[in-house]
Amino acid sequence: MELKIFDSHAHYDDESFDEDRDKVIEEIRNEGVIGVLNCGSSIEGARASFELSKKYDFFYAAVGVHPEYADKVNDEVLKEIEDMTSFHKVKAIGEIGLDYYWESNPPKEVQKEAFRKQMNLARKLNLPVVIHDRDAHKDTLDILKEFKEVNGVVHCFSGSPEFAKECLKIGYYIGFTGVVTFKNAKKILEVAKEVPLNRILLETDCPYMAPTPYRGKRNQSNYIKYMAEKIAEIKEISIEDLNNQATQNIKRLLNMEL
Ligand code: NI
Repeated sequence: MELKIFDSHAHYDDESFDEDRDKVIEEIRNEGVIGVLNCGSSIEGARASFELSKKYDFFYAAVGVHPEYADKVNDEVLKEIEDMTSFHKVKAIGEIGLDYYWESNPPKEVQKEAFRKQMNLARKLNLPVVIHDRDAHKDTLDILKEFKEVNGVVHCFSGSPEFAKECLKIGYYIGFTGVVTFKNAKKILEVAKEVPLNRILLETDCPYMAPTPYRGKRNQSNYIKYMAEKIAEIKEISIEDLNNQATQNIKRLLNMEL
């Protein structure tokens, strides 16, 4: 049986796809991928995600500015993001959040302000959010709690099982990448045990985070079957059931028909 895969987080606008983007997108479609949420990382990435969702029937867009570019978020940028959401295939605001890992990123206060402004926009537009959190678990959670009406996913989850429980408590979904298939994966597998089936999302974060046996290579959405296989094993259900559940979850979060 072929899996019907929905990739809840991808970056096909990345330059690593410039040579063969159309070909790869055709290939993943033939391999059973029925949906892709392409997420903007910068305002340029948001525009590109918007264009991809216009060009391909199974592509949807999240539009937002990643914390790396938090200093670029101004009223004009927020207005452009808002304008893009009037297109029906723009389904979420993202990716937004906090990243304290890279010292070259804008200062924490600048990141927090950009994050709050985009959370505020999501609340106003009644759209879910795609959250990026790296080495900023506490501050991320505190800001999410300020916006109780907003729901979303903590993508490429990197926290502890305890932090996952806190995110689940406020209604968020947990995004799993190819990391679950890595030989040295331990913490994320403990997280997978804790997350109920109805809150699990599968994502590539492609071109990054390719699962074993493609670790280190360029990632693409049909490889999600390897993540589904690993999490299905932990949950002691079939790969098909795990994948179907994850596909339903992302459709529910994006307010699409199940
Ligand atoms: Ni990403």
